[in-house]
Formats: sequence, structure tokens, C-alpha cells
Amino acid sequence: MTEHSGIELAPSILASNFAQLAADAREALQGGGTLLHIDVMDGHFVPNITLGPPLVASLRKALPDVTFDCHLMIENPDNLIPAFAESGANWISVHQEACVHLDRTLHLIEQHGCKPAVVINPATPVHTLDDVLDIVHHVLVMSVNPGFGGQKFIRNALKKMQALAQIRERRGLHFRIEVDGGVALDTVADVVRAGAEILVAGSAVFGHGDIAGHAKRLLEAARAAKLACA
Ligand code: DX5
Ligand code: ZN
Repeated sequence: MTEHSGIELAPSILASNFAQLAADAREALQGGGTLLHIDVMDGHFVPNITLGPPLVASLRKALPDVTFDCHLMIENPDNLIPAFAESGANWISVHQEACVHLDRTLHLIEQHGCKPAVVINPATPVHTLDDVLDIVHHVLVMSVNPGFGGQKFIRNALKKMQALAQIRERRGLHFRIEVDGGVALDTVADVVRAGAEILVAGSAVFGHGDIAGHAKRLLEAARAAKLACA
């Protein structure tokens, strides 16, 4: 589970075929994915239900070494953080909008041996994170309203990634910037130019057959955009 300084692709298994989840995930990793993004939805915080700790535990058995990036779109995440950590999560992100005691929740994630991260919805401003940016491993900027894969990219998210990169520089912080939602060949250069380093992609990777090939092309486009702005 190496840390990377450059661009990383985090295939979102939400768009995979759950009946062959491990095989699909392996293909995405063969195509250059270095993390697996795991979307957890509770039917309350978002209007959809996906998966829970038992599935993460099974996937962990099938893929012992890959970093699991667990995106919790749930109310009261404190109740489930221990179970996700126990099941094999490495990174756990929680929504700013779902956490009344965000600082406590982020520390709870850390106490369970995982990297803590915070997520903001498209309508949530970056300044709401001012007081936790020094304790998070990464910030996840939603570029769709969470709940479903395959939605249209919301361009306002680009400004938020730029703002986060500037704040990080100004304050000498080290959090990484992740983007989630509508990342595909037509948007990937923009998110990289805006400062995103960890790119979540669901339908663009799993939605059209040849999973490894789609992952590879998306990553190549991202790295080319990064080189072009260097
Ligand atoms: C949406 C999820 C995303 C989703 C992205 O609520 O958080 O991770 O899988 O899917 P695409 O890449 O299809 O927009
Ligand atoms: Zn997600």
C-alpha cells in the first residue's frame, strides 16, 4: 500500500458487476487503479443503499493488499467506523454534512487505524473545513450529488479543488485532494488541472466492457494533463 505523490486512480466498485466483484476489481487494478473506492450508502443520508462491512471483509480476503478507500454516505458514521476498520478499510471518509462532531469522528477513524478524510457535497463550501484540514489525510470533493453513479459532472467542484490546493499551499498542510463523480475522459483533464490527485471513477471504468483498458486510458489522460500543467 504505497503512498504516491502523483495522480492515482480509485476505481469505484459501485459501477461494477456485484456478482463478480473481485474479478472486476482485479481488472481495474490491472489497468492501473491503485486504490479501490467503496461507496457505502444507508438509504437515509443518500437515497440509495449499497453495501456494508461483511462485503468489505469478503473483498479484503480476495484482495489482501490493495488500499480500500471507504466513502461513507451514512448518518451517524461513528456507529459503524469500528466495523469498517475491522473489515479491512484503510481510508475512511465521512461527510461534513453528516457529522455534528466532525473533529471527534475524524479522530475516531484514526484511533481505529485508518486514514481519516472528509467529504463535501456540491452545495457545501470549502471554508466549512477550515478547522479540520490539519487532521485529514485527504479531502474528497463531490462533483455530483452523492447517491448514484453515472451522473453529470458539476463544474462548480473545480473551483473548490483549486481553493483547497491554494489553502494547502498557504497553510503548509499535507492533505491530498480527491474528486468523485462524473470523472471520465471528457472531464479528467479539468479535474487534474484544478488540483485533484486521487480520481474516483465508476462508470468510466466499469461501464463499457474492457475494464482494464478503460482504466488505463483514463489514467493516461490524467497523467498527460498533469505533465502539461507542470
Ligand atoms: C456517488 C459515488 C461515486 C460514484 C461515482 O455517490 O460516491 O463514487 O460511484 O460514479 P461515476 O464515476 O459513475 O460518476
Ligand atoms: Zn464515492
